[in-house]
Amino acid sequence: MEEFHNVCRTDELADGEGKTVAVGDKLIAVFNVEGSYHAIDDVCPHMGASLSGGLVENGIVTCPWHAWRFRLADGAWADNPRIKIGCYPVRVLGDVVQVQTPDAAPKPSSGAIP
Ligand code: FES
Repeated sequence: MEEFHNVCRTDELADGEGKTVAVGDKLIAVFNVEGSYHAIDDVCPHMGASLSGGLVENGIVTCPWHAWRFRLADGAWADNPRIKIGCYPVRVLGDVVQVQTPDAAPKPSSGAIP
């Protein structure tokens, strides 16, 4: 079952800024765009920069290392929308920002029979 996880308070994320949060073993970049919150994978698929530190303009974050651009609405690479990174539902309850992530994948079996 997919669950919403508390990731930060609204006053910890100013308009136009991003923040890296950890949900389980996944790093997620959460952004505040004029009071609308978005969540995508934090790790850039190019060489691993943190996308939360990127410039946000017109609903797109630009990676701070080599300027790959990702849409906050759906995680699509703006220059080739067939390629996408993870994008997660966000909600605000009171002053708490919550992100919904899929359950962790089951660990592969060792093949041992108990
Ligand atoms: S690490 Fe993001 S564009 Fe290179």
